[in-house]
Amino acid sequence: MMKILNIISSPVNGTSASTKLGNAIVTKLQEKYADNTVTLRNIAQEPLPHLEEIQMTSFFTADEKRTPQQKDALKLSDKVVDEVMDADVIVINVPMYNFGIPSTLKTWLDHLIRKDITFQHSTSGIQGMVTGKKVYLAISSGGIYSEGPRKHLDYTENYLRSVLDFIGITDVTVFRIEAQSKPDLKEEYAAKAMKNISI
Ligand SMILES: Cc1cc2nc3c(=O)[nH]c(=O)nc-3n(C[C@H](O)[C@H](O)[C@H](O)COP(=O)(O)O)c2cc1C
Repeated sequence: MMKILNIISSPVNGTSASTKLGNAIVTKLQEKYADNTVTLRNIAQEPLPHLEEIQMTSFFTADEKRTPQQKDALKLSDKVVDEVMDADVIVINVPMYNFGIPSTLKTWLDHLIRKDITFQHSTSGIQGMVTGKKVYLAISSGGIYSEGPRKHLDYTENYLRSVLDFIGITDVTVFRIEAQSKPDLKEEYAAKAMKNISI
Protein backbone atom coordinates (compact mmCIF):
# COMPACT_ATOMS: atom_id res chain seq x y z
CA MET A 1 0.00 0.00 0.00
CA MET A 2 1.44 3.34 -1.13
CA LYS A 3 0.12 6.22 0.99
CA ILE A 4 0.22 9.51 -0.89
CA LEU A 5 -0.24 12.88 0.82
CA ASN A 6 -0.92 15.86 -1.47
CA ILE A 7 -0.48 19.36 -0.01
CA ILE A 8 -2.37 22.00 -2.02
CA SER A 9 -1.29 25.58 -1.36
CA SER A 10 -2.71 27.55 -4.28
CA PRO A 11 -5.97 29.36 -3.46
CA VAL A 12 -6.86 29.31 -7.17
CA ASN A 13 -9.50 26.77 -8.08
CA GLY A 14 -9.74 25.21 -11.52
CA THR A 15 -6.84 26.91 -13.29
CA SER A 16 -4.06 26.59 -10.69
CA ALA A 17 -0.84 25.56 -12.41
CA SER A 18 0.73 24.03 -9.29
CA THR A 19 -2.43 22.02 -8.62
CA LYS A 20 -2.50 20.84 -12.25
CA LEU A 21 1.13 19.72 -11.98
CA GLY A 22 0.61 18.16 -8.55
CA ASN A 23 -2.46 16.29 -9.82
CA ALA A 24 -0.46 14.92 -12.74
CA ILE A 25 2.27 13.70 -10.35
CA VAL A 26 -0.34 12.03 -8.12
CA THR A 27 -1.93 10.36 -11.18
CA LYS A 28 1.46 8.99 -12.28
CA LEU A 29 2.07 7.67 -8.76
CA GLN A 30 -1.34 5.99 -8.79
CA GLU A 31 -0.54 4.39 -12.15
CA LYS A 32 2.76 3.08 -10.79
CA TYR A 33 1.42 1.91 -7.43
CA ALA A 34 -2.02 0.39 -8.04
CA ASP A 35 -2.53 -0.22 -4.32
CA ASN A 36 -2.61 3.35 -3.03
CA THR A 37 -4.45 5.90 -0.94
CA VAL A 38 -4.46 9.66 -1.53
CA THR A 39 -4.98 12.18 1.28
CA LEU A 40 -5.59 15.76 0.12
CA ARG A 41 -4.68 18.57 2.49
CA ASN A 42 -5.78 21.94 1.11
CA ILE A 43 -3.96 24.51 3.24
CA ALA A 44 -5.22 27.38 1.06
CA GLN A 45 -8.87 26.58 1.74
CA GLU A 46 -8.19 25.55 5.34
CA PRO A 47 -5.12 27.52 6.41
CA LEU A 48 -3.42 26.69 9.66
CA PRO A 49 -3.22 29.55 12.17
CA HIS A 50 0.12 31.24 12.74
CA LEU A 51 1.94 29.95 15.79
CA GLU A 52 1.15 31.86 18.98
CA GLU A 53 2.78 31.98 22.41
CA ILE A 54 0.87 28.93 23.65
CA GLN A 55 2.36 26.78 20.87
CA MET A 56 5.82 28.13 21.63
CA THR A 57 5.59 27.09 25.27
CA SER A 58 3.88 23.77 24.44
CA PHE A 59 6.48 22.78 21.85
CA PHE A 60 9.23 23.10 24.43
CA THR A 61 7.44 21.52 27.40
CA ALA A 62 7.63 17.78 28.05
CA ASP A 63 4.29 16.06 27.40
CA GLU A 64 3.80 14.98 31.03
CA LYS A 65 4.25 18.58 32.16
CA ARG A 66 1.89 20.17 29.63
CA THR A 67 -1.29 21.82 30.86
CA PRO A 68 -4.62 20.78 29.26
CA GLN A 69 -4.58 24.14 27.40
CA GLN A 70 -1.08 23.46 26.05
CA LYS A 71 -2.11 19.98 24.92
CA ASP A 72 -5.15 21.43 23.21
CA ALA A 73 -2.99 24.04 21.45
CA LEU A 74 -0.91 21.27 19.88
CA LYS A 75 -3.78 19.43 18.25
CA LEU A 76 -3.44 21.01 14.80
CA SER A 77 0.32 20.60 14.82
CA ASP A 78 -0.05 16.96 15.91
CA LYS A 79 -2.42 16.38 12.99
CA VAL A 80 0.06 17.90 10.51
CA VAL A 81 2.84 15.71 11.93
CA ASP A 82 0.68 12.56 11.93
CA GLU A 83 -0.31 13.05 8.29
CA VAL A 84 3.30 13.43 7.22
CA MET A 85 4.52 10.53 9.36
CA ASP A 86 1.77 8.30 7.96
CA ALA A 87 2.57 9.07 4.30
CA ASP A 88 5.05 7.21 2.08
CA VAL A 89 5.08 9.88 -0.61
CA ILE A 90 4.29 13.58 -0.21
CA VAL A 91 3.45 15.77 -3.21
CA ILE A 92 3.65 19.47 -2.33
CA ASN A 93 2.06 21.90 -4.78
CA VAL A 94 3.94 25.22 -4.53
CA PRO A 95 2.94 28.41 -6.35
CA MET A 96 5.87 30.86 -6.23
CA TYR A 97 4.89 34.02 -4.37
CA ASN A 98 7.36 36.90 -4.31
CA PHE A 99 10.25 34.55 -5.08
CA GLY A 100 9.35 32.24 -2.19
CA ILE A 101 6.60 29.95 -0.92
CA PRO A 102 3.04 31.00 0.07
CA SER A 103 2.68 31.97 3.73
CA THR A 104 0.14 29.15 4.18
CA LEU A 105 2.84 26.64 3.28
CA LYS A 106 5.34 28.34 5.61
CA THR A 107 2.80 28.08 8.44
CA TRP A 108 2.23 24.39 7.65
CA LEU A 109 6.01 23.90 7.98
CA ASP A 110 6.02 25.83 11.30
CA HIS A 111 3.51 23.31 12.64
CA LEU A 112 5.47 20.36 11.22
CA ILE A 113 8.99 21.16 12.39
CA ARG A 114 9.10 20.23 16.07
CA LYS A 115 11.93 19.36 18.41
CA ASP A 116 11.93 15.71 19.49
CA ILE A 117 8.99 15.01 17.15
CA THR A 118 10.36 15.66 13.67
CA PHE A 119 13.98 16.55 14.53
CA GLN A 120 16.25 16.00 17.50
CA HIS A 121 19.63 17.03 18.79
CA SER A 122 22.13 14.17 18.81
CA THR A 123 25.81 13.98 19.69
CA SER A 124 26.57 14.42 16.00
CA GLY A 125 24.27 17.43 15.60
CA ILE A 126 20.72 17.82 14.33
CA GLN A 127 19.05 14.60 13.30
CA GLY A 128 15.88 14.51 11.22
CA MET A 129 13.23 12.09 12.46
CA VAL A 130 11.04 11.96 9.34
CA THR A 131 12.81 9.20 7.48
CA GLY A 132 11.91 6.91 4.59
CA LYS A 133 9.75 9.47 2.77
CA LYS A 134 9.81 10.58 -0.83
CA VAL A 135 8.80 14.16 -1.66
CA TYR A 136 7.83 15.64 -5.02
CA LEU A 137 7.67 19.43 -5.30
CA ALA A 138 5.29 20.77 -7.98
CA ILE A 139 6.48 24.37 -8.32
CA SER A 140 4.63 26.86 -10.51
CA SER A 141 5.86 30.34 -11.38
CA GLY A 142 5.03 33.27 -13.60
CA GLY A 143 8.62 33.59 -14.78
CA ILE A 144 11.48 31.19 -15.56
CA TYR A 145 13.89 30.19 -12.78
CA SER A 146 15.24 26.78 -13.80
CA GLU A 147 17.75 28.58 -16.03
CA GLY A 148 18.61 32.09 -17.14
CA PRO A 149 19.10 35.44 -15.38
CA ARG A 150 16.39 34.87 -12.72
CA LYS A 151 17.75 31.52 -11.48
CA HIS A 152 19.34 33.07 -8.37
CA LEU A 153 16.00 34.65 -7.37
CA ASP A 154 14.28 31.31 -6.71
CA TYR A 155 13.79 30.90 -2.95
CA THR A 156 11.29 28.05 -3.28
CA GLU A 157 13.36 24.97 -4.15
CA ASN A 158 16.45 25.66 -2.07
CA TYR A 159 14.42 26.69 0.96
CA LEU A 160 12.13 23.65 0.79
CA ARG A 161 15.05 21.27 0.24
CA SER A 162 16.75 22.80 3.31
CA VAL A 163 13.81 22.52 5.71
CA LEU A 164 12.87 19.05 4.47
CA ASP A 165 16.49 17.91 4.89
CA PHE A 166 16.44 19.36 8.43
CA ILE A 167 13.65 16.96 9.41
CA GLY A 168 15.20 13.99 7.59
CA ILE A 169 13.59 14.10 4.15
CA THR A 170 16.42 13.90 1.66
CA ASP A 171 14.74 12.17 -1.27
CA VAL A 172 13.23 15.21 -3.03
CA THR A 173 12.39 15.51 -6.73
CA VAL A 174 11.38 18.86 -8.22
CA PHE A 175 9.08 19.39 -11.19
CA ARG A 176 8.37 22.89 -12.44
CA ILE A 177 5.67 24.55 -14.46
CA GLU A 178 7.16 27.89 -15.46
CA ALA A 179 6.37 30.99 -17.52
CA GLN A 180 2.73 30.99 -16.42
CA SER A 181 2.61 34.82 -16.54
CA LYS A 182 3.95 34.89 -20.10
CA PRO A 183 1.03 34.48 -22.52
CA ASP A 184 3.28 33.58 -25.46
CA LEU A 185 5.12 30.83 -23.52
CA LYS A 186 2.54 29.66 -21.00
CA GLU A 187 1.06 26.75 -22.95
CA GLU A 188 4.39 25.55 -24.28
CA TYR A 189 5.86 25.47 -20.76
CA ALA A 190 2.76 23.79 -19.34
CA ALA A 191 2.93 21.04 -21.97
CA LYS A 192 6.67 20.63 -21.32
CA ALA A 193 6.05 20.36 -17.58
CA MET A 194 3.46 17.61 -18.01
CA LYS A 195 5.71 15.70 -20.42
CA ASN A 196 8.71 15.90 -18.07
CA ILE A 197 7.05 14.10 -15.16
CA SER A 198 8.86 10.84 -14.57
CA ILE A 199 8.16 8.83 -11.47
C1 LIG B 1 1.01 37.09 -4.72
C2 LIG B 1 1.71 36.55 -5.92
C3 LIG B 1 3.08 36.65 -6.02
C4 LIG B 1 3.75 36.13 -7.12
N1 LIG B 1 5.10 36.21 -7.17
C5 LIG B 1 5.75 35.68 -8.24
C6 LIG B 1 7.18 35.73 -8.31
O1 LIG B 1 7.88 36.23 -7.43
N2 LIG B 1 7.78 35.20 -9.40
C7 LIG B 1 7.08 34.62 -10.41
O2 LIG B 1 7.67 34.14 -11.36
N3 LIG B 1 5.73 34.54 -10.36
C8 LIG B 1 5.06 35.06 -9.30
N4 LIG B 1 3.70 34.99 -9.25
C9 LIG B 1 2.98 34.25 -10.31
C10 LIG B 1 2.65 32.83 -9.86
O3 LIG B 1 3.79 32.15 -9.38
C11 LIG B 1 2.06 32.04 -11.02
O4 LIG B 1 0.88 32.69 -11.46
C12 LIG B 1 1.75 30.62 -10.64
O5 LIG B 1 1.25 29.94 -11.74
C13 LIG B 1 0.76 30.56 -9.48
O6 LIG B 1 0.48 29.22 -9.17
P1 LIG B 1 -1.01 28.67 -9.19
O7 LIG B 1 -1.50 28.83 -10.61
O8 LIG B 1 -0.88 27.26 -8.77
O9 LIG B 1 -1.81 29.51 -8.21
C14 LIG B 1 3.02 35.50 -8.16
C15 LIG B 1 1.62 35.40 -8.05
C16 LIG B 1 0.99 35.93 -6.98
C17 LIG B 1 -0.53 35.80 -6.89
